[in-house]
Amino acid sequence: MGILENKSRARLFYKYLSKIYDRVNPFIWNEEMRAEALELLDVERGDRVLDVGCGTGFGTEGLLQYTDDVHGLDQSAHQMQKAFEKFGRRDAVNFYRGDAERLPFRDDAFDVVWSSGSIEYWPNPVTALEECRRVTRPGGQVLVVGPNYPESSVMQKLADAIMLFYDEDEADRMFEDAGFEEFRHVTMGPAYNPDIAITTVAAVSE
Ligand SMILES: C[S@@+](CC[C@H](N)C(=O)[O-])C[C@H]1O[C@@H](n2cnc3c(N)ncnc32)[C@H](O)[C@@H]1O
Repeated sequence: MGILENKSRARLFYKYLSKIYDRVNPFIWNEEMRAEALELLDVERGDRVLDVGCGTGFGTEGLLQYTDDVHGLDQSAHQMQKAFEKFGRRDAVNFYRGDAERLPFRDDAFDVVWSSGSIEYWPNPVTALEECRRVTRPGGQVLVVGPNYPESSVMQKLADAIMLFYDEDEADRMFEDAGFEEFRHVTMGPAYNPDIAITTVAAVSE
């Protein structure tokens, strides 16, 4: 398990990274990638959508282009503070401080659950994916963006030491273990590394 697949270490990491997150983020996760991921979903105006690991609100901002009922959850107070500065505390978005592995919502509460760039920090990704499925209504969708497993063995060693990087086979295993029956993966990335991210869109069975 990588050093940042630990909730308190990830919180400490984001205490500092939150200060520059919005400046460095576009090098690995940019607006074009976000638009491509959003296009994989069927979000309709009025849909209730949850952004798990919303951070400073980059994914949240994209979701607001599709619906006004957006909810963001993150475990880092520092990241959320940055999101509050953009959206207010209780205006355009409903924010919650919480853990992806124990979502504070009732079953079937959302039409869509989105999570971008957060799964790599979850110590128990299958538990969190089960939670995403639980809070999504039957017929709804769950979309997760995570870091694709690198090809070179040196980079694999480095990646494994830091956090969860995964390929399509591992994504299959995680989504199946979390109870999803229907899903597909798409890789995406900036021009210098077009497969840097793996995005999975899953349907929640009716
Ligand atoms: C790389 S940032 C992604 C932020 C945002 N989703 C985006 O698209 O830019 C990862 C975020 O996941 C959050 N996170 C990590 N582990 C978490 C957990 N167990 N529960 C909730 N949030 C978590 C971190 O605090 C951080 O804000």
